[in-house]
Amino acid sequence: MMNKVFVLGSVNMDMVMQAERMPLEGETISGTGFLLNAGGKGANQAVAVRKSGGSLKFCAGVGDDVFGEQLVNTLREYEVDTENVRTIAGTNSGLAQITVVNGDNRIILYGGANESLDAEAAKKFLAEAAKGDIFLIQLEIAPAVVLASLKTAKERGMQTILNPAPAQNFRSEMLNFTDIIIPNEAEARCISGKEDVEEAARLLSEVVREVIVTVGEKGCIYCCGNSLEAFPCPRVKVVDTTAAGDTFCGAFAARLSRGYSVKEAIGYAQKAASLAVTKSGALQSIPSESEVLKTTFRIA
Ligand code: RIB
Repeated sequence: MMNKVFVLGSVNMDMVMQAERMPLEGETISGTGFLLNAGGKGANQAVAVRKSGGSLKFCAGVGDDVFGEQLVNTLREYEVDTENVRTIAGTNSGLAQITVVNGDNRIILYGGANESLDAEAAKKFLAEAAKGDIFLIQLEIAPAVVLASLKTAKERGMQTILNPAPAQNFRSEMLNFTDIIIPNEAEARCISGKEDVEEAARLLSEVVREVIVTVGEKGCIYCCGNSLEAFPCPRVKVVDTTAAGDTFCGAFAARLSRGYSVKEAIGYAQKAASLAVTKSGALQSIPSESEVLKTTFRIA
């Protein structure tokens, strides 16, 4: 039996500059490549759900500007249902200025329409959810809306997954309505106050049922109750890590919604995320289920 995955979150236009190094303060350097593509943690996770064969519902906001129209059209090309993607009058679409050096990225985000998505829209969106459906959310929309929608999702008997990215929007009350939390290393440190990642995972698991900390090329740590397990990651040639975490979250949620166990879902999500880092960009780097299943991986 397949449950639905409800993703609420951001859509951004990503302006990606590739360079050999970061410029110093006051310095201008030449880039080695440029991409303009759709992204945003919400949209990336939604596409990852679809590409992993999940039944998806998606809610987001775009501006009434030229990027807004392009973003909605791109989502449709990726077979994301845009019924709940609102064009918010008087706003600009979310923009991410991304610099990629040696495969790693640095991002400055302009929230735009993402920040105008309100709790009412989220509530209306979740009214269609049934008990057992999955709610997947990140933190590129207003923290108050995240909190309200996590509460609504729990009231509706959904399984809630929080990807606390970016961590600056995290509020500890969110944990009370979260079943599974998926931070990366830096986010786990930031929200737990613990430097050691295992300690951070254990501390979070005192409040949240299941904790998965993604640790880049080292894989991830899964903590549930007293047990803590490390999952090494497949080895790949890294081109661009943008959207790797989103691919993990979306692929994981899709797998869970299709009845796989948490550990099985982690195994699949790691493979999907590993393939995502072998390509540039956000949405366009997310692999389909058939690509994941036909690839032979070398585990580190
Ligand atoms: O997680 C990657 C995403 O973060 C990018 O697509 C960018 O839009 C930023 O939101």
